[in-house]
Amino acid sequence: MGRTAWIIGGGSGIGAAVARRLAGHEDFTVAISGRRPEKLEQTAAGNPAIRPYPLDVTNSEAAKTGLANVLADLGRVDMMLYGAVAPVRMPAGQYSLADFRTAFEANYFGFVHLTNALIEPMAAQGGGQIAVLGSLAGYYGLPTSGAYSSSKAAIMALAQTMHVELAPRAVDVRLVSPGYVRSELTDGNKRPMPLLMDADEAARRIVNGLLRSGRFEVAFPWRMAMAMRLLRVLPYPVAFGLLRNGLPREK
Ligand SMILES: NC(=O)c1ccc[n+]([C@@H]2O[C@H](COP(=O)([O-])OP(=O)(O)OC[C@H]3O[C@@H](n4cnc5c(N)ncnc54)[C@H](OP(=O)(O)O)[C@@H]3O)[C@@H](O)[C@H]2O)c1
Repeated sequence: MGRTAWIIGGGSGIGAAVARRLAGHEDFTVAISGRRPEKLEQTAAGNPAIRPYPLDVTNSEAAKTGLANVLADLGRVDMMLYGAVAPVRMPAGQYSLADFRTAFEANYFGFVHLTNALIEPMAAQGGGQIAVLGSLAGYYGLPTSGAYSSSKAAIMALAQTMHVELAPRAVDVRLVSPGYVRSELTDGNKRPMPLLMDADEAARRIVNGLLRSGRFEVAFPWRMAMAMRLLRVLPYPVAFGLLRNGLPREK
């Protein structure tokens, strides 16, 4: 019998590449969600195993209805990958509360809305996997990325909490922590992006990690993951010094 996946953020970037990979190389039927129907249609074009379900994750009712539609059509969700993100970047001193809220609504609370609705049916069907796209930027508070880094740190902590809590119900919660990947999110980034990779390569690593390993965290590229882990164990003055060096000099 085939499996089913539901990818949030499946209309572009990493989510779209994972949807295509699952639908092309595995026995999956893949539901994809995001706000823009035309992006979902583009991802699904020519691939009958991919089915679009437009929704806005920041609306808890829409999240419930979206899940009900997916369950009505596909019967079950064996794997959910959460990758919605709001591209918000503000320097300290110019923080906009509205933009911070937008970032947390998409990057964090959307996941809460969806998993609230999904956990019971997933446990009742005998289990499944819930994976969330964190980021290596969630390992440490990065300069100019206040909203992004802190929302990612929050969702990574939530994934750890849920992993332990839901294991007895056979709901396997996983964390995916990529470095820099080419996508709409990084398209406008003018700063250096070391070890930048294509979304297809990221998708290959994510699918392998989620389907063929039992590891809680799928982190890549390994050199970037090691560097960010090292940053966390360094004394603060050393870590802050390294981060300060990456900032543009004041004129
Ligand atoms: N690219 C990187 O370097 C990188 C690195 C580490 C982690 N990540 C993480 O990987 C995930 C995917 O990012 P990406 O790089 O593939 O960026 P992306 O191409 O911008 O994908 C983000 C997706 O989220 C959807 N989305 C945004 N707000 C939404 C909302 N309110 N409701 C439903 N869907 C929403 C967008 O579709 P709509 O606009 O149509 O809604 C879009 O398809 C994110 O969690 C990101 O933080 C990316």
